[in-house]
Amino acid sequence: MAKPSVFVTRRWPAAVEATLAEHYEVQLNTSDRPLTPSELREQLGKFDAVLPTVTDRLTAEALDVKAARTRILGNYGVGYSHICETSARELGLTVTNTPDVLSECTADIAMTLLLMVARRAGEGERELRAGKWTGWRPTHLIGSKVSGKTLGIIGYGRIGQEMARRAHHGFGMKVLVYNRSPVAPAVLSRNKATQVNCIDELLPRCDFVSLHCPGGAENRHLINSARLDQMKPDAFLINTARGEVIDEWALAQALMYDLIGGAALDVFDGEPRIPPDLMQCDNLVMLPHLGSATKEAREAMGFRVLDNLADFFSGHDPRDRVI
Ligand code: DGY
Repeated sequence: MAKPSVFVTRRWPAAVEATLAEHYEVQLNTSDRPLTPSELREQLGKFDAVLPTVTDRLTAEALDVKAARTRILGNYGVGYSHICETSARELGLTVTNTPDVLSECTADIAMTLLLMVARRAGEGERELRAGKWTGWRPTHLIGSKVSGKTLGIIGYGRIGQEMARRAHHGFGMKVLVYNRSPVAPAVLSRNKATQVNCIDELLPRCDFVSLHCPGGAENRHLINSARLDQMKPDAFLINTARGEVIDEWALAQALMYDLIGGAALDVFDGEPRIPPDLMQCDNLVMLPHLGSATKEAREAMGFRVLDNLADFFSGHDPRDRVI
């Protein structure tokens, strides 16, 4: 029997590409640059499976295909707000993602950002590399203590829970949680977390707020000027979820006018473009979407896509089907 044909939109870890090639007729995007909507449409007409990732804008325009050959989008990544759900359903596409395997590494990056912004690590490194460090002094780059403070987590899925585990068991932090649905008491008690009813109740009580909710239209600008105003004036905002969850213009204003203590971002609306206003803010730490960027997580993500493809092409419902 002919092997199903598969198109991979970006380069993957070598070990995963090699295994993929053993089981499928694979075409790689050797240029490793994001495809345009018309290039994506072309692949949807030619391959049984397309394996996209966060940099592919699978909008209604890109999914406007008359005769799609593709039956499954095996997304490399847990977030899939870059895929237009309505159009994918209209095309009868199965869509899968890669949960679990990146939760710990993404939480590690969220904790890295939290520590960096609280302890002014970015500012310190910039000063040192610019040759401007004049030596130790009692008043130099004074930050905020992390241990024992209150962390608010918005979105208590797998990554949010891993963040809470690090914060509570590693740093003795108190954890408040906002989640759309009720979280089981046993899950909350693992990290001595308390669930609150709404975001407005959470924000004024936290020293740190970390975002772990999905992106997409529903959560676009969930953190806007009004919500930034509700934060304590010395509190910090951390985002490893999706860029669109924060109104970046409002955040830049809050940072420039010291309305909050600082922010730390791994994701941006319209990345890799960074709004110039954010670039000017010293009380902001920025990383280039590194949440899952470890050898272990990136390989596991690829193998998880392979599991989903194997399920699908053997006639079973893939374990990580999201659409
Ligand atoms: C994810 O898995 O959603 C990461 O952000 C990479 O897309």
